[in-house]
Amino acid sequence: MSSKKTQLEGEVFYPSAEVATQARVPDWAALAKRADEDLEGFWAAEAEELEWYRKWDKVLDASEKPFYRWFKGAQTNIVHNCLDRHQRTWRKNKLSLVWVGEKGEVRTYSYFALNRDVSKFANVLKAMGVKKGDRVTIYMPRIPEIVIAMLAAAKIGAIHSVVYGGFSVDALQGRIEDSESKVVITADGGFMNGKIVELKKTVDDAVRRCPTVETVIVVQRTAHEVRMEAGRDYWYHELMKLPLAAGVCPTEVMDSTDPLYILYTSGTTGKPKGLIHGHGGYQVGIYSTLKYVFDIKDEDRYWCAADPGWVTGHSYIVYGPLLMGATTFMYEGAPTYPYPNRWWSLVEKYGITILYTAPTAIRGLMRFGESWPNRHDLSTLRLLGSVGEPINPEAWKWYHRVIGKGRCPVMDTWWQTETGMFMITPVPTLPLKPGSAAKPFFGQQVSILDDNGKAVPDGEEGFLVLERPWPAMAMTVYKDPERFVKTYWEKYPGRYMAGDAAKRDADGYYWVIGRTDDVIKVSGYRLGTAEIESALVSHPAIAEAAVIGLPHEVKGQAIHCYCLLRQGFKPSPELEDEVKQHVAQHLGPIVRPEKVTFVDSLPKTRSGKIMRRVLKARAQGLPEGDVSTLEE
Ligand code: WT7
Repeated sequence: MSSKKTQLEGEVFYPSAEVATQARVPDWAALAKRADEDLEGFWAAEAEELEWYRKWDKVLDASEKPFYRWFKGAQTNIVHNCLDRHQRTWRKNKLSLVWVGEKGEVRTYSYFALNRDVSKFANVLKAMGVKKGDRVTIYMPRIPEIVIAMLAAAKIGAIHSVVYGGFSVDALQGRIEDSESKVVITADGGFMNGKIVELKKTVDDAVRRCPTVETVIVVQRTAHEVRMEAGRDYWYHELMKLPLAAGVCPTEVMDSTDPLYILYTSGTTGKPKGLIHGHGGYQVGIYSTLKYVFDIKDEDRYWCAADPGWVTGHSYIVYGPLLMGATTFMYEGAPTYPYPNRWWSLVEKYGITILYTAPTAIRGLMRFGESWPNRHDLSTLRLLGSVGEPINPEAWKWYHRVIGKGRCPVMDTWWQTETGMFMITPVPTLPLKPGSAAKPFFGQQVSILDDNGKAVPDGEEGFLVLERPWPAMAMTVYKDPERFVKTYWEKYPGRYMAGDAAKRDADGYYWVIGRTDDVIKVSGYRLGTAEIESALVSHPAIAEAAVIGLPHEVKGQAIHCYCLLRQGFKPSPELEDEVKQHVAQHLGPIVRPEKVTFVDSLPKTRSGKIMRRVLKARAQGLPEGDVSTLEE
């Protein structure tokens, strides 16, 4: 790709002839126009590429909006399309999953082998009494069994709730409680930076307070000593040896709108929301976006370096690539352990062709300089991707030049747990502007609105709003449909408010700026201030706390806490450390605050609400804005 100025504004990277000639979508505008004119027709054609036990009566039912129902009347199971249908073709012998552990172990699964292990584990879950509609919590390291567990649950119609392994006791407990899971699937531990992450211990602590949990299934990964409670805890490898774990298991027939999973995510206030994604619309949305944006071909080795515990992993490590019949690569550990060339050596050794990661990882690796990637043959790469937060043009250009050697287009994909699939994204043939996620995906329309719902002029900042329904949209918030309506659909009736600020430029390219609510993006992880504040006040020294996110060079944002101490406690560096440790212990290492400041008062409104934006402005030496409601 070359960077040259033409009629498009700003710095633009045009696709090379190599990219253009092999692209699945040679003409972005033509397909966009077709989808725009016939949204349902576009998605129906995409859906026809998958298999259904029964076809839909209606592509889109909007009669109870915002509870849109896609492919109404259809019957399917996403696992049928991920695994079952490939058994009848040559793909049965194709690699579905290539996995590399932190200690260098390699495990590979053909589509046949993955289907066999998923079927075996599905039979185990059934034997444990798991039925269609039951919730199963999965809290695991990045090992193949997390994929197997998710697919096995889905295969028998259970609803999985994956909790990211970087979370800790309080976060896990809250999510198990809300989902009322009967079964928790975990591992003794996981490896990260050469150390053991004590997953089973965390599960023990969390489950002690969760009466719904009857069974804990434990994969042996680290083989260090863990406590196993008789009658509750079972080893995965022992269960998988039992005759009941037969290698054949029927796939449950699901309605298109039956729930597939719950995924908890932080919002403006209160506890995390359990977003629900279903079988039918979701599979069509992620299949289609992955196909067009990452242009996956049979000879690709696709690597999404996220964790399955986040929506990126659900949609684009586990389900999406398998729907495509692709080979997906997964690794355990961290980008810089044992050395900052871990990723580049994996790209070389396994011939990775598509790499999809987050800006924070790029910035982190950039700091170690070019000599680490330059030591490796990265010539297999043909496409790069970014997700999770806005990518600064400097990181974009480094990624493009040093990793992609100027040949690989960077797909900056904007989307959310709620959207399930890419919503603003380029395709490989679209000219790219570093820092912009380019244009709405086919069939989508994105508006930038002011507070009153009026479109702002191009170039000005406003609220990012999605105008048209899409098949992978979350169906509701688990047990709280009102919250679903209130959070996303009430400010601008009939339109989806994403919670982000953005601009559109004169070329119709979108530039996402960041969250407009109390969500903090730390290393691309979405964290809520409310959850962190409640962990803070559970420390005996802290009476009251407010949390904000402030810019951080590598992490994007970092957590800053302002705490009022209880009587009898004095500020000290030791106490600051202790408080940081306390938060990390309760919520997880990824939630460890950057800084804890002890204060005498917090800016509040007269009704007692903490004004975080005032704290934020003060911390950055910016004007405080409208403080007419401030009482301090
Ligand atoms: C929020 C959603 C969806 C995958 C991972 C995050 C931010 C996500 C981009 C991007 C700018 C981005 C937004 C969004 N975000 N991708 N390409 N450019 N911002 O999912 O945890 O639900 O977070 O991540 O602020 O609202 P999530």
